[in-house]
Amino acid sequence: MTHFLDIHTTPQSDLRDIISNARDMKNARAGMSKGTLDADQPLAGQMVALIFEKPSTRTRVSFDVGVRQMGGQTMVLSGADMQLGHGETIADTARVLSRYVDLIMIRTFEEQTLLDMAEYATVPVINGLTNRTHPCQIMADIMTFEEHNGPIKGKKVVWSGDGNNVFASFAHAAKQFDFELVFTGPETLDPERALDGLYTTVRDPHEAVKGADLVVTDTWVSMHDPQSARERRHNQLRGYQVNDDLMAKAKGDALFMHCLPAHRDDEATSSVMDGKHSVIFDEAENRLHVQKAIMRHCLSK
Ligand code: CP
Ligand code: NVA
Repeated sequence: MTHFLDIHTTPQSDLRDIISNARDMKNARAGMSKGTLDADQPLAGQMVALIFEKPSTRTRVSFDVGVRQMGGQTMVLSGADMQLGHGETIADTARVLSRYVDLIMIRTFEEQTLLDMAEYATVPVINGLTNRTHPCQIMADIMTFEEHNGPIKGKKVVWSGDGNNVFASFAHAAKQFDFELVFTGPETLDPERALDGLYTTVRDPHEAVKGADLVVTDTWVSMHDPQSARERRHNQLRGYQVNDDLMAKAKGDALFMHCLPAHRDDEATSSVMDGKHSVIFDEAENRLHVQKAIMRHCLSK
């Protein structure tokens, strides 16, 4: 069974194959080519369950469109509407769904839910975000970086803000794709200890971004964070906003990324999001292409 649960648990050669296949599929349809089907239909006759226990725009739409372009069919399920939300175990849900569908993508809260799904399902499972990681996003980000600025190997990536789930997948990717990762943010929002050794910390954001090839940020309050922490987080993170002044300290050809959704003029100013360094909508588009490659990878073994 080939699941796609995280970047650090997927072999390097498979990660590279996925990105290369994504690029080929994107080129074959000359980008988005809305409304057209892929020439080959690798998911013909296959049914994919997309389970969401948290809101989503990009993940939901890009997986749904990707499956359809490849000839498959989807059912989008909300965790709250399933018996899952009323006490049925993940293990039982996984075994039941495996009798109906060929592939499961799940966005959930606790990582253990994803791991249980993968353990008990007899079909491949893909991680569509947990409180701990967001691997599909970072696969799209690596693809996006390389489209614009060439191989990411040896490049300097600076993350400014909260040491959250999206950062964690960047940290896993730093090792697998061999780039330097710098975290800049307040000590109170440091990444989890399990990521130690995968990145370095520079507290002063202006120092941190010097010579950066890529500057990345994300929302200051994630979906799993209590809303009561909102004001405190904003106060702690205000100094880490990505604005024109900060971007000017990075390399002249540096890219700016944000997985979206963004809170404009909080974690990043609109001038940066819509400015010359920004590739935020290419990242969003590449979710489609890279996830198609991830699904093919899972179903081809
Ligand atoms: N970046 C991302 O995963 O967006 P959604 O929450 O809209 O899926
Ligand atoms: N860190 C964000 C990412 C959303 C795509 C969250 O978990 O809410």
